[in-house]
Amino acid sequence: MRRPSFRLACGRDIGDISGLLPGVLGAADRIALVADRAAAGAPALKKMLGPSLAPRVRRFSLPAGREKTLGAVTGLCSDLFKAGFSRQSLIIAAGGGAVTDAAGFAASLYMRGLNWVSVPTTLLGQIDAGIGGKTAVDLLGTKNIIGAFHQPALTVCDTAFLATLKPAVRRAAAGELIKYALIGPGDLRLTIMRSFDGAMAGRPDDLLACVRACAEYKAGVCAVDEREETGLRETLNFGHTAGHAFEVLSRGRLPHGEAVLWGLRYALKVSEKMRVLDNTPGAWKVTGMIDPLPLPAACRGPKGFLKLVRADKKRGGRDNRFLLLRSPGDVEPTDNIPEKVLLAALEEL
Ligand SMILES: NC(=O)c1ccc[n+]([C@@H]2O[C@H](COP(=O)([O-])OP(=O)(O)OC[C@H]3O[C@@H](n4cnc5c(N)ncnc54)[C@H](O)[C@@H]3O)[C@@H](O)[C@H]2O)c1
Repeated sequence: MRRPSFRLACGRDIGDISGLLPGVLGAADRIALVADRAAAGAPALKKMLGPSLAPRVRRFSLPAGREKTLGAVTGLCSDLFKAGFSRQSLIIAAGGGAVTDAAGFAASLYMRGLNWVSVPTTLLGQIDAGIGGKTAVDLLGTKNIIGAFHQPALTVCDTAFLATLKPAVRRAAAGELIKYALIGPGDLRLTIMRSFDGAMAGRPDDLLACVRACAEYKAGVCAVDEREETGLRETLNFGHTAGHAFEVLSRGRLPHGEAVLWGLRYALKVSEKMRVLDNTPGAWKVTGMIDPLPLPAACRGPKGFLKLVRADKKRGGRDNRFLLLRSPGDVEPTDNIPEKVLLAALEEL
């Protein structure tokens, strides 16, 4: 896999980051630290800023629970402007996916683009959301409608942050971990299968193994297909078309991670019905690593489900578009799957 254009550092207790990218970090006239409330006081963050960065750092925040709104982003840009931030300034975004998505988006906009550093502090952030430069806010209740591809100069995944995560927030990453095990190469799958239970239980070595393997894999994919143009980055959306539909239909009863788990199972069902999935039990073994919360009845309604699938922004001009699995590690995009197949797979979940 090609090396990414941005620097990625993964570890536990990484400490002072000023030496990781001295050109960019040293040249910044001011540094805006946009931190999630839960991560702002973490010792790992204090250690990262170290003596050479700390004197230039000024702290900013996004409104908790409303980070991914245009209002939050323009509010942050106004605060930066009032505080005298310039084109030579730098943003460090430290938090879950909500903070890295929104602060990264502000970095793409402020004075036509600032350098930024992504410091994901949740498990989902460190294996997925904080990596790869997709930044966005939500609009009219729909996710990620306004956004930009804006690569951070540096991404730092320090698993020391994960010690304070609530178990439910940790579990929210289960769907993405299983997705990587299904779509990634054999060594990634093996690492996840070995470390999955320990990571879900919060064991530090297993968390580090999962974060390192997934972050490096995603960074490699984004290095080859930064703007989702060649089809490789699209494979990272495996399970998400149905997963997003389940999330919306459940009206908040199914957290995102659980919705993705059901989306993966649904994609496997469709792959079987389209006779794409080979006969080996490998894929089902991977999804069997965890039992998701029950799928609410509201998610099984065929009309609502088909409407959402047909509204998916990745389908382009087609009726629908799904990523199907031939075998673990081998994903195939398929357009215009017959409605009867989609409904039969829904029925069987
Ligand atoms: N850009 C991408 O490629 C991408 C990919 C996947 C998801 N996302 C986005 O990521 C977001 C979800 O991210 P998330 O799951 O990290 O949720 P989140 O950002 O909402 O954070 C979840 C909770 O964890 C808390 N938290 C953060 N760091 C903590 C820490 N170290 N200790 C204790 N608590 C901590 C937060 O305060 C919050 O309450 C969604 O908005 C989604 O759209 C983006």
